[in-house]
Amino acid sequence: MRLFFFHTPERAPNSGMADAAVAIDVLRATTTMAWSLQNGAEAIQAFADLEELDAAARAWPADRRLRAGERGGARLEGFELGNSPLAVTPELVGGKRIFMSTTNGTRSLDRLRSAPLLLAAALVNRAAVAQRLLQAQPATVWVLGSGWEGDYSLEDSLAAGAIVAALLEQGGGSLEDLAGNDEAAAAHALWQHWQHAPEQALRLASHGQRLQRLGNHDADFACCAAVDSLALVPLQTEPGVLRAS
Ligand code: MLT
Repeated sequence: MRLFFFHTPERAPNSGMADAAVAIDVLRATTTMAWSLQNGAEAIQAFADLEELDAAARAWPADRRLRAGERGGARLEGFELGNSPLAVTPELVGGKRIFMSTTNGTRSLDRLRSAPLLLAAALVNRAAVAQRLLQAQPATVWVLGSGWEGDYSLEDSLAAGAIVAALLEQGGGSLEDLAGNDEAAAAHALWQHWQHAPEQALRLASHGQRLQRLGNHDADFACCAAVDSLALVPLQTEPGVLRAS
């Protein structure tokens, strides 16, 4: 298996696609997706475009849908949910489809839509993601960070490195064989630096600082930094639709 890490959707190659792909948005979209499915949501349907989201949500039974919308870290007006993993309680999301659009995370998923195997990863499920990849044995894997509007993000690189480390721990070979590009090797080194203090890295990250400026997000940070707290992996089962696996 050769794993290629790209910092943002813009950095992914313009043509071709890997055998498997992993979208990461630690703060907070992929963490929230994993927790929504853990708490019983029927599926997450991800949209880069808000008008498309609206049309798809309106076509779904009203008692079985929720709309989750975030821009700039804040909940979009008129949406039932923003993007906090703490808000997706079993009482609220159980049995519901969540129609979701976020600033960066849903754009990464959109970019990887055509992958034969597409997973959503965060720190909370990085060992489970590594396990799914080792089970599937794809020859090539693209791991895509979401970044922030085209810029690098510390927290997504940290999670990419955490996945590389989990693959190595679970018997995925040597770093030399696994790392397909320098970004993958650098992400692994970043994880080695922060692995004992992931929450500190999330708070240091520019989006972490943005969230702190918006208000108290202590519980979100603790949740997003809880490495391997979930065994569940959101898996694309039809274009744009993720279910628990
Ligand atoms: C995003 O997609 O950029 C995020 O998940 C932002 C956030 O809500 O923290």
